[in-house]
Amino acid sequence: MDDLRITYRGSRGEVPAVRGISMSLEPGDTLGLAGESGCGKSTVAGAILRLLPRETQVTGRIVLDGDDVLTMSFGKLRAVRWAGASIVFQGAMHSLNPVHRIARQIAEPIVLHEGLSSDAAEKRAVELMAQVGLPAWRASSYPHQLSGGQRQRVMIAMALACSPQLIIADEATTALDVMIQAQVLALIKRLVAERNIALVMISHDLSVLADTCDRLAVMYAGKLVEDGPSHEVFAAARHPYAQALSAAFPTVGDPAERRNPHGLAGDPPDPSNLPTGCSFHPRCPVVRDDCASTSVELRRARDDWRAACLRVEEVA
Ligand SMILES: Nc1ncnc2c1ncn2[C@@H]1O[C@H](COP(=O)(O)OP(=O)(O)OP(=O)(O)O)[C@@H](O)[C@H]1O
Ligand code: SF4
Ligand SMILES: [Mg+2]
Repeated sequence: MDDLRITYRGSRGEVPAVRGISMSLEPGDTLGLAGESGCGKSTVAGAILRLLPRETQVTGRIVLDGDDVLTMSFGKLRAVRWAGASIVFQGAMHSLNPVHRIARQIAEPIVLHEGLSSDAAEKRAVELMAQVGLPAWRASSYPHQLSGGQRQRVMIAMALACSPQLIIADEATTALDVMIQAQVLALIKRLVAERNIALVMISHDLSVLADTCDRLAVMYAGKLVEDGPSHEVFAAARHPYAQALSAAFPTVGDPAERRNPHGLAGDPPDPSNLPTGCSFHPRCPVVRDDCASTSVELRRARDDWRAACLRVEEVA
């Protein structure tokens, strides 16, 4: 993705939700995307499959396997959804069709995109169910007969159904209890590694991302402010905002810490009324005089690590 900019347009005027994001993923790469509520994470996810409201202005490039998603025909886009990239949303488990059996729902995209007969697709669906830890006899269950964790497994099986090159998991495990969440995360991690699928995992919880992904990117007010190796970013972020976020979750994998974050003073800014210069400056604990007047882009903190702070060397 190259210089992705997204502005929502509605009755309340323009909301510049994403303000110039560039990043790339190779097959098998796993990227965690973090940031407070409203920073633009789901907007980025929605843009990758062109799922945003029609009147939204999207500029830049999103290239999937050589083709630009933003300019491709609807026919091509239909093929890309599921087969090229698929999304598992937060609470997506509630979007299962209550009147269709599980196997039939998983089989649906396979029939549509790979032209298999319903019987052959349902057979494949049962194989996929086994991969996500659902026994074959569950094939004839209806969604209401499954637990939340099991329904989220069904969503993951659907996301895998057409062997996509990219899976985007947007708060896919947030609604689950801690034990089930750990199981589902381990499952996603194993499946993307086995199949060499690229993964973008979105969460406000850095510790989940550091556990699951090799790379960690942090967004603030519609921009990337940090992007580097996940365990190192988690342990010693270079951007003061990313530092505050990781300080809020000091121990990777400790659920008690996750429920009691230290928090960060102040609120995230309103995207339609952003502070000048570095948009984090009103909340930054190490702000200096020029931060309010100097716009700051990502700078190289190390070969594999970038941060958008004027003080990146000192902060390190
Ligand atoms: N359809 C829409 N119309 C107008 N503004 C929107 C729309 N959807 C989202 N926004 C705004 O865009 C900004 C980014 O929203 P987005 O949903 O991408 O945030 P997020 O990082 O996913 O937050 P969360 O962690 O709460 O899911 C927010 O300020 C939000 O209010
Ligand atoms: S540029 Fe200034 S305000 Fe922004 S994060 Fe760095 S020190 Fe803080
Ligand atoms: Mg979101």
